[in-house]
Amino acid sequence: RKPVTVPGLRAMKAQGRKIVMLTAYDASFAWQLEAAGVDVALVGDSLGMVVQGHRSTLPVTLDEMAYHTRAVARGLSSTLLIADLPFMADRDVAHTLEAAARLVGEAGAAAVKLEGAAPHILDAIATLGARAVPVCAHLGLTPQSVHKFGGFRIQGREREAADRVLSDALAVQSAGADLLVLEGVPSALGERVTHALEIPVIGIGAGPQCDGQVLVVYDMLGITPGKRPKFSKDFLAGRHSVGEAIAAFAEDVRSGAFPAPEHCFD
Ligand code: KIV
Ligand code: NA
Repeated sequence: RKPVTVPGLRAMKAQGRKIVMLTAYDASFAWQLEAAGVDVALVGDSLGMVVQGHRSTLPVTLDEMAYHTRAVARGLSSTLLIADLPFMADRDVAHTLEAAARLVGEAGAAAVKLEGAAPHILDAIATLGARAVPVCAHLGLTPQSVHKFGGFRIQGREREAADRVLSDALAVQSAGADLLVLEGVPSALGERVTHALEIPVIGIGAGPQCDGQVLVVYDMLGITPGKRPKFSKDFLAGRHSVGEAIAAFAEDVRSGAFPAPEHCFD
């Protein structure tokens, strides 16, 4: 397979080909994603919850993100690798650049993801862009804002909040973001944002109209402790291996079979 690239993802949006993305935290899972032909592997700071057992993503450090990113990079060959900037790694330009140097320069990610559209985030996107570091923005239910939201709650349900998500999406695109992850919003808003943006919009609980879909790999294997999140689906159920489950996810995203209405919000 030819390597997946950032411009290649943009071409996929233009051609109407769905983008398949999953999280990975180690080399073995990275290899499973690679073998199943997943387009993008995300070393998400969700590892703070599903690997480390914390209640939120906030305790994850840059050292930990770099450690997992190095491991995942060793398992990949053609899959595009994106790493999350952990909480407060974007507190100023110097820290943002340091984090990109660690995750992209040393650990092997092709791009970094950061949450929100606050003024300092727009600056960070532009600053990284000026250094030719591709950026994935992340809006909607941004987990690093869990305390401000008062829990992991669907965002953009009221008219004003929905308009704000759309204007934030246009702002991160203008600042130079190459991709957007849109999480935990009504399907109608997912569709609005996807059509308004030139850059690919990858949804998680954001409806079927997004340009691609991402899930936490342990959620879609049904091994995350606790109740399955509504926006996820257990792809291992009735199948014989992790590889088969991941391949089924890829197929269902590409065909539009996932997400189904029961995985979506309104
Ligand atoms: O950390 C993560 O896994 C994420 C995805 C859910 C988009 O940010
Ligand atoms: Na994340």
